[in-house]
This record gives sequence, C-alpha cells and structure tokens, in this order.
Amino acid sequence: MNFELLSMDLAAAAQLPCDALVVLVPTPFKPQADEVSVLIQDALDAGDLETKPGKILSLYRPLQAQADRLILVGAGTASLAHIRTAVTSACSGVKSSSKVKNLVISLALLPETKGAVSTAMNAVADVSYTYTTTKSKPEPRLLRQVVVAVKGGKEMAAEFKQAQACIAGVEFAKEWANRPANHSTPTQLADAAQGLANSFKNSSKTAPRMSCEVLGPKEVAKLGMGSFMAVAQGTQEPLRFIVLEYIGSSSVKSSAPNVLVGKGITFDTGGISLKPAAEMDEMKFDMSGAASVLGVFKALSVLKPHIRVVGLIPTCENMPGGRALKPGDVITSMSGQTIEVLNTDAEGRLILCDALTYAERFKPRAVVDVATLTGACVISLGNLRSGLFSNSEELATQITAAGDAAQDLCWRLPLDDDYAEALKSNFADVANVGGRAGGAITAAKFLHRFATKYPWAHLDIAGTAWKSGANKGATGRPVPLLLEFLLRNQSAITFTAENAAPAKAKRAVKAKG
Ligand code: BES
Ligand code: MN
Ligand code: ZN
Repeated sequence: MNFELLSMDLAAAAQLPCDALVVLVPTPFKPQADEVSVLIQDALDAGDLETKPGKILSLYRPLQAQADRLILVGAGTASLAHIRTAVTSACSGVKSSSKVKNLVISLALLPETKGAVSTAMNAVADVSYTYTTTKSKPEPRLLRQVVVAVKGGKEMAAEFKQAQACIAGVEFAKEWANRPANHSTPTQLADAAQGLANSFKNSSKTAPRMSCEVLGPKEVAKLGMGSFMAVAQGTQEPLRFIVLEYIGSSSVKSSAPNVLVGKGITFDTGGISLKPAAEMDEMKFDMSGAASVLGVFKALSVLKPHIRVVGLIPTCENMPGGRALKPGDVITSMSGQTIEVLNTDAEGRLILCDALTYAERFKPRAVVDVATLTGACVISLGNLRSGLFSNSEELATQITAAGDAAQDLCWRLPLDDDYAEALKSNFADVANVGGRAGGAITAAKFLHRFATKYPWAHLDIAGTAWKSGANKGATGRPVPLLLEFLLRNQSAITFTAENAAPAKAKRAVKAKG
C-alpha cells in the first residue's frame, strides 16, 4: 500500500478522481465555500449526518466530487482518538470491497493538529491489513493508494515519513505475531531478524547500519542463562537468543543505546502447569513482544534515524515433556540469583530475566522490555492500555507521553517493594509467582530484581498485543509507542533509576579455564 501526502483544501480534494473520498467532519463544523461543504451543511441541517466520531453518510457518484464514492464521517472534537475512530469507521467497508483501490482522505476541515496525519494513516493501514501467509488462496489487500489531503503540507512531511515507517513496522510485527507457532519457530524468528539486517544493505561498515547476531543453545549455556534454558528444556525445538543492533550515524556509535527486550515464547502451553484447552491457540501470540521489537527494527530500517538501538529477543517454546521443567524445580539465572519455579506457566519472566542481565553489557541509557506477561494485566487494564512499570520517573513519563502521541496508550502501575513479599521462597532467592492478587505487579517485581543496573521500564502487553473473537489477530502494538519513544528520547533527557531492587546476588561464577 502506497501513501501520498498532498497539500490541498476540500474543494481541490473533491477534484481528485478516486474510488472513494473520505471527508472528516468535526464539531464545530466551519463550512468553506466549496460544494462539498455546502452538501455537508445541508446533511447536518437535515439530521442525516452527525459529527459524532465514526457516524457515516455515504453517497454514490455525487455531483459535487470526482470520486465514485463520497464518505462523510463525523470526527467529533478532532482529537487524535476521534480521528482514529472516524477513519476506522469510514474505511472499515473498504477492506471487504473489491472496488476501492484508490482512496483519498481529506483532513482539510479539521484544525491542524500534530499527529492528525499520522493517526489517520495508522488507522487506515490497521483496518485494511490482511493476513495471507498460511492461506492456500490468499486474498491480499486490495487498497493500493491512499492520499492524505491536508491544508498544511510541508510541515507535515516529517510526521508523514515517520508514519510510513511506523506502519511498515506494525505490519511486520503483525505478520510474525499472526503466524501460527509451526510457522514462527524460534529459528524462523531468528531468520526474520537476520533478514532485516541483511536487507539493510550494510555492506560497508559505515552507519547507518544494522547487525544481527543469533545465539543457540550452546552459546546461551556458555553465558549461564540457566533460567532461559530451563523453559526451553521441555521441547525439541531449539531456543534462540537474538541480538539486533541499529546504529544510525557514526556520531551515535559509542553513545549509550536504548535496549528493547521482547518476550519470544513462540507457543505457551503452560508447560507442566498446563493451560486449559479453551483458546489455547491464542498462545501463539505469546511472542508478540518479540514481534514488536522486530517491528521497531523494521521501522528503523525504513526511517534511518540518527540513533542507536539494541534489540534482545530470547525465544523458545514452553512445552510439557519428559524433560520439562517441573513445579518446585530451582534454577540458576545468569545473574546468579536462584529461582524456585512454583508454576511453569509463569515462563515469560524466566526468559526475560536472563535477557535483562545480558542487557547490562551495553551500558544502556534505558532498557524497555515488552511482554505478553500476565492475564492479570488484561483484568486490570483490558484491551485499551498496556501496563507500564518503571524504576525511573522520567522514563515512565517519557514512555507515557510517547504512547499518547502515538495513540498507543499505556498506564503506569506501581512497583512498591512490599509487593515483592509475595515472591518469597523457602528454597531459592525468589519464587517465580506470587498469589493471584496483583499478578501483573508481582510479575513486574520479579523482573525488577534483574533490572537494577540501569533505568528500566516493563510493558505488559497481554491485553493489547492481539484481539480475540471474530477479528482475531495481532495489533502490532506497541510498535508505535516504542518508535515514538526512541525518536524523542535519544539525547534530551537523562534517566535515573530509583529504588534499586533488593537482593543483589553474587554474579554467577563462570567456569574458569
Ligand atoms: N503468556 C501468559 C500470559 C497471558 C495470559 C497473556 C493470557 C495473554 C492472555 C503467561 O506466560 C502466563 O501464563 N502467565 C500466567 C502467570 C501465572 C501463572 C502467575 C497467567 O497470567 O495466568
Ligand atoms: Mn505462561
Ligand atoms: Zn507466556
């Protein structure tokens, strides 16, 4: 799908020949002199059109426009949320239509707000996305050309470019998260990461460049990632630890990078603490955190910003089996801390903790982990906002602001040390689960112990990474939030990690030669 940004008023947009012209109508509506505006005013006066977000009035071959179809849609107060609702509603019919290949969206009646262009673009991409990879007769997206027509123009160019990159990233993340577990094994995910780096044309060593290193069971064992390895021991499918690095210019080469860590459980059966059968298929989405990290790197490869980013993806299956991890087993993490595994279904934190320890070597500016970590987070926040946890006020503020700007919302939850009481163990330094109470928080407290050396944030995307039901599928979240965060953040603010977690265990003693 191809996007184009054009600077023109509604009268000019109405002269564009296209399959459909979508016009966003806000309240208050200030009519211009053109014919479509007159039509809108008449429809509003007659009560046939409302400015409520998402309300639609469709016309076929109207005399007032060159478009075959004219879709007037209420845009409410023209807030970013209302713009998203309006575009989603107006374009939802487009997906099933075999007629609409060229679309024009006019934002000319809206006040010029930052984020309007990007929100409209993301919404039309989202609603027209189609998954085809494992269909025998694929019906690909028919929408080919989307023109966004705005009053301004040049000043929107940067936003337009970022949105294009963001959409490429979101669709990459959707693709990998949507693939069933037998089509997105840890090995295949690693190949996808390698493919991103390879296609980055980094034949020379000069920036911008992207590199990818893939570690297998042997290398991971050598690093002492006992916790990650324990989760993978119940399956025949070999684990992978993916290290991606993007360097946007030679001047950022030795700057402290932001590190993204994505949970890559390609299928979560629960292990010996087996999950119930109902909806277990959805646990193929348990690598959505990993997919979002891949998506961000895809976006970086399109946008090529002058920043440095590292992506870490621990990826494996969580299966029951003759050699699987058992409840009560005590394992030793890369940090040296021992963990009593009371529930093998709390596996995400077990693979993430070793990745968080690995992240220390980059002397990061900040580390953000992204994980479909707890059902409890879905109960807390539903499907609207991701759960955010952080040991740094500034980092939490920045991530929240990035989410607001990108319309990819999150909400901060607490990390009081008293919540860690639930993780006490009689047999190890820490248990991998607390009780049912505050499950998203106790999971975050577990991770907190491993993220003491740098400013850190954790995004629990269990409720936001995919949709269930008839529209089952990945959302590509939180790629928009992460991309926005990375682009805003690089140099301006320095983060400080507060209240370092307790229990500083001795570093794992590596076998000496
Ligand atoms: N991948 C799941 C979390 C999940 C559950 C995401 C439902 C989306 C929907 C995670 O590995 C898990 O199983 N968590 C357990 C933790 C519990 C055993 C403490 C959960 O949330 O039930
Ligand atoms: Mn689980
Ligand atoms: Zn899981």
